Amino acid sequence: MSRFDGRVVMVTGGATGIGFAIVEELLSEGGAVVLTGHDAVQIRDAAAQLGQQRVVTVAADVRDQAALHHAVQVAVDQWGRLDGLVCAAGIQIPGTVGTMLEADWQQVLDVNLTGAFRAVKAALPALSLAGGAIVLLASVQAHLGKRNGVAYVAAKGALVALTRAMALDHAESGIRVNSVSPGVVDTPLLRQAASRVAGADQVEALVAGWAQAQPLGSARGRPCMPRDVARAVLFLLSDEAHYISGADVAVDGGLGAKLAL
Ligand SMILES: NC(=O)c1ccc[n+]([C@@H]2O[C@H](COP(=O)([O-])OP(=O)(O)OC[C@H]3O[C@@H](n4cnc5c(N)ncnc54)[C@H](O)[C@@H]3O)[C@@H](O)[C@H]2O)c1
Repeated sequence: MSRFDGRVVMVTGGATGIGFAIVEELLSEGGAVVLTGHDAVQIRDAAAQLGQQRVVTVAADVRDQAALHHAVQVAVDQWGRLDGLVCAAGIQIPGTVGTMLEADWQQVLDVNLTGAFRAVKAALPALSLAGGAIVLLASVQAHLGKRNGVAYVAAKGALVALTRAMALDHAESGIRVNSVSPGVVDTPLLRQAASRVAGADQVEALVAGWAQAQPLGSARGRPCMPRDVARAVLFLLSDEAHYISGADVAVDGGLGAKLAL
């Protein structure tokens, strides 16, 4: 018997990076998954890579409430239930308050923060029937400031606060809500961020340097990989975490414990 046998989980931003690793881990532990994303090519590639019966892919931009309601309906139509929701969709646009266009600020908040609000809104009715669990992907940047990323830092900080508020609101319905705050994880998002601050030939060195800044990164000689984050997410979704709600779990290799002097 696997931990997620008979369980159904919806993952936003599930086609790449951390979201995709969560999908893979859920499938390997017996779960069924509704994989959602906004990019048709990414979704098609993810589906081809997974090639499984227990996953359905649904094109759903987290800025589109109706599309998210449809994705939940697909889960209910296909498997008759929804036990979990993971909000992994996220984007970064750099900038300070001085340099950033308001439209870019709005876009980062719309996808990272309001996107989670919309996905939870869509999933709540089905989750409350199953007594389900929600996990939001926040960031070490929710807890520690980073230069030139005001919108992302603000959105991630708000996600951690939203986690606590929702944990209180939905406890009576048997729904647990937690967040996970990754540090530096080797994904397309991270590599895009690296390519914005360094030339293409410097990306590898920059990613390695960021990984080394995490105490476990330098100790283990490798960056945090999406699967390392996925394991924490699966724990929070699972019955092993049945008394945990309103918590944030750091998967940052000790980065948040470090004084950067
Ligand atoms: N990589 C890191 O170091 C790191 C660190 C902390 C937090 N995170 C968070 O983890 C989550 C996953 O990021 P990742 O690093 O795997 O990057 P990623 O770019 O691989 O994943 C982000 C996913 O979100 C999807 N997405 C973007 N806009 C969307 C929209 N409007 N609607 C639906 N989906 C959309 C993308 O298509 C992609 O699949 C994000 O929330 C990110 O902020 C990442």
